[in-house]
Amino acid sequence: MTIDNDMQTVRDRALKKLLTHLSDSVTDQWDEIAPFQSSDYHDPALAELERDRIFGEVPFIVAHSTELAGKNDFISVELPRNKAIVIRQKDGSVKAFVNACRHRGAELVTEESGKCRIFSCPYHRWSYDPDGRLRNVTLDNTFGDFDRSRFGLVELPVAERHGFVWIIDNARREIDVAAWLGPEMDEILAGFGIDRLVSIDPHTYRRPTNWKIMQDGFLDNYHVKYAHPNTAGKMLHTNAVAMEDYGRHFWFLTSRKSIDQFIGQDVTWDPSMVNHTIESCFLAPNTMLLKHATHIELLTFRPVGADPNESIMQMRVMAPTVEDSGLAEEHWEKRWKKNWDILISILHDEDFPILDGSQRVLSSMDAGTMLLGRNELASHLFRREVRRLVETAPEA
Ligand code: FES
Ligand SMILES: [Fe+2]
Repeated sequence: MTIDNDMQTVRDRALKKLLTHLSDSVTDQWDEIAPFQSSDYHDPALAELERDRIFGEVPFIVAHSTELAGKNDFISVELPRNKAIVIRQKDGSVKAFVNACRHRGAELVTEESGKCRIFSCPYHRWSYDPDGRLRNVTLDNTFGDFDRSRFGLVELPVAERHGFVWIIDNARREIDVAAWLGPEMDEILAGFGIDRLVSIDPHTYRRPTNWKIMQDGFLDNYHVKYAHPNTAGKMLHTNAVAMEDYGRHFWFLTSRKSIDQFIGQDVTWDPSMVNHTIESCFLAPNTMLLKHATHIELLTFRPVGADPNESIMQMRVMAPTVEDSGLAEEHWEKRWKKNWDILISILHDEDFPILDGSQRVLSSMDAGTMLLGRNELASHLFRREVRRLVETAPEA
């Protein structure tokens, strides 16, 4: 990272800009208003391109490493192109496989998570080792001879970095998370120390809503006081963002209302500023990471197959372990349960009804041209990357 991108410099620059914005009631902006059509969220041909050219080509997060902490711990995940299993190996690494038996394709793992020394197929009881090797073919004296080494589980490219498990949803690709993140975002995530935190009770939601509407909804700092007047809108500022654009990913600073005490003052970023600000990272193509004073939230969005009308949202809270927090276990549990209860009620009562409604009415044939304002900078940058990926023809 260059001196110019040193995080102290970045945070200080953003803080000063944000305070000026708040004083002038303005925000960072995109160059122009962008008109768009409802077909962006309904077109099956576009949804197919997004599935293949986005999720089939670039790394995205599917878990925090502590969700599969021990040997043989696994999770099953529904990705846009594959149903997959991710499993911790004997040597501590992770592997990912398509969750389909190589005999006649039965679903191998039906649980969301667990610990498994052997994958045993429910249909004819073929079995596989945790490293994907085909171990046993039942009644093999009658089945016939074949090269078993070629019929292990199909492997997907997976890697761990910054405490997360990343996948490219395409068996024909290789994964390089650092290269995808680029030096700036790689350094920012390293600085957060997310690998020392624990993922507390991750939540998965299947939504009747296009994944981009979902992602936009959680990049949006314009709706805060209007859609959440009695919850988030009470604590957080609306429509005030200081952006650092890294070309593909971006970082931005927003604020709590407690920052108002510093408006008009010549302040420098110091560690206490985490109490008044939220650092957000958009990790292309589908992830929002929010750094709060006490914890990190991670929101991921992905389509269900090539269906433009359905998506999976995952929400994670990562915080210091009971030991690192210095709290009594009971207190720790109470604290994060309360945190989750608040998040869930805002999601269910306030965000989901609006976002689901958008998906419903945007199926109207005459919905008309809509507008993304200059103030909605994060959504412009998200669109820029989606467009770039969709327009890039993949290698064979
Ligand atoms: S489909 Fe798995 S053993 Fe037959
Ligand atoms: Fe919201």
